Amino acid sequence: MECCRAHHIIAIVSLVLILSPVVVHGWGIDGHLTICRIAQSRLSESAAAAVKVLLPASAGDDLGSECSWADRVKFHYHWSSSLHFIDTPDNLCAYQYTRDCKDEYGVQGRCVAGAINNYTSQLLSYGNAASQYNLTEALLFLSHFIGDIHQPLHVGFTSDKGGNTIDVHWYTRKTVLHHVWDDSIIMTSEDRSYNSNVDGLIDAIKKNITGEWADQVQTWEDCSGNQTACPDIYASEGIKAACDWAYKDDYFQSRVPIVNLRLAQGGVRLAATLNRHVPRTV
Ligand SMILES: *[C@@H]1O[C@H](CO)[C@@H](O)[C@H](O)[C@H]1NC(C)=O
Ligand SMILES: *[C@@H]1O[C@H](CO)[C@@H](O)[C@H](O)[C@H]1NC(C)=O
Ligand SMILES: *[C@@H]1O[C@H](CO)[C@@H](O)[C@H](O)[C@H]1NC(C)=O
Ligand SMILES: *[C@@H]1O[C@H](CO)[C@@H](O)[C@H](O)[C@H]1NC(C)=O
Ligand SMILES: [Zn+2]
Repeated sequence: MECCRAHHIIAIVSLVLILSPVVVHGWGIDGHLTICRIAQSRLSESAAAAVKVLLPASAGDDLGSECSWADRVKFHYHWSSSLHFIDTPDNLCAYQYTRDCKDEYGVQGRCVAGAINNYTSQLLSYGNAASQYNLTEALLFLSHFIGDIHQPLHVGFTSDKGGNTIDVHWYTRKTVLHHVWDDSIIMTSEDRSYNSNVDGLIDAIKKNITGEWADQVQTWEDCSGNQTACPDIYASEGIKAACDWAYKDDYFQSRVPIVNLRLAQGGVRLAATLNRHVPRTV
């Protein structure tokens, strides 16, 4: 089983790399799935009801199954491609909304932090019949972008496009640093520790959210004052983690804990963001 699954993954990854020479942004499918499954298990009753209403029928009430929707529509909704990441100044290891949250043309607010604010405020109109927004899309974008902002290299240096231009070896394969953090670390850790099964990883992270990390969860959820959402906190953590962990030479097993922590925080915060706003309007 393990051998075949591994070959299967390599085959798929190679195919994807061949088919998409362009920059790929975002946790891979399993990273996003993990964050959305964790989040959905933590929703308040009214937020869960809203999510159920907004999800397309094909999702079968599983937010995880639609968590990579935003990556699938990136080429069709071309305007959305700059909403998956933030480029910060090289080697500064710090993020500022007004300086860094813009697209390649310099349009303010067009980055993953701006998008999280945007789609969270659109969801505030849930239950308001006159809403001008497609709230299904708002939910799917928000769920994906809260995931992306927790991938350390989604808030990375400008000149290397968040590690997309840095060639590395992952065991026997050649890839780029960005892809290692999107996919490779998660896939290798699934193969080694969870029988190649993403559910095993999700369960292990959930167990740590209620055990090992229980005393931090409240701080992860915090979004003080009357802010709609708190993406600037997550982005600042992200560029710091990228500098501390990703832009380094010695690798492998030592990176698994930071990936697991970011997946946990993403899941907890997606639930907290939805819980904070959706119930008020139901
Ligand atoms: C906000 O959402 C609308 C509707 O999807 C979209 O057209 C716009 O580009 C978004 N802007 C940002 C910064 O997310
Ligand atoms: C809202 O967006 C979804 C996903 O793109 C689409 O399937 C649906 O038709 C849209 N709804 C409306 C009312 O436009
Ligand atoms: C859960 O926490 C334990 C104890 O710190 C750690 O050894 C383990 O790797 C963690 N698992 C995950 C999935 O984060
Ligand atoms: C939040 O907004 C309410 C009403 O707009 C206001 O009374 C309250 O002081 C605000 N709280 C903070 C912490 O800004
Ligand atoms: Zn993405």
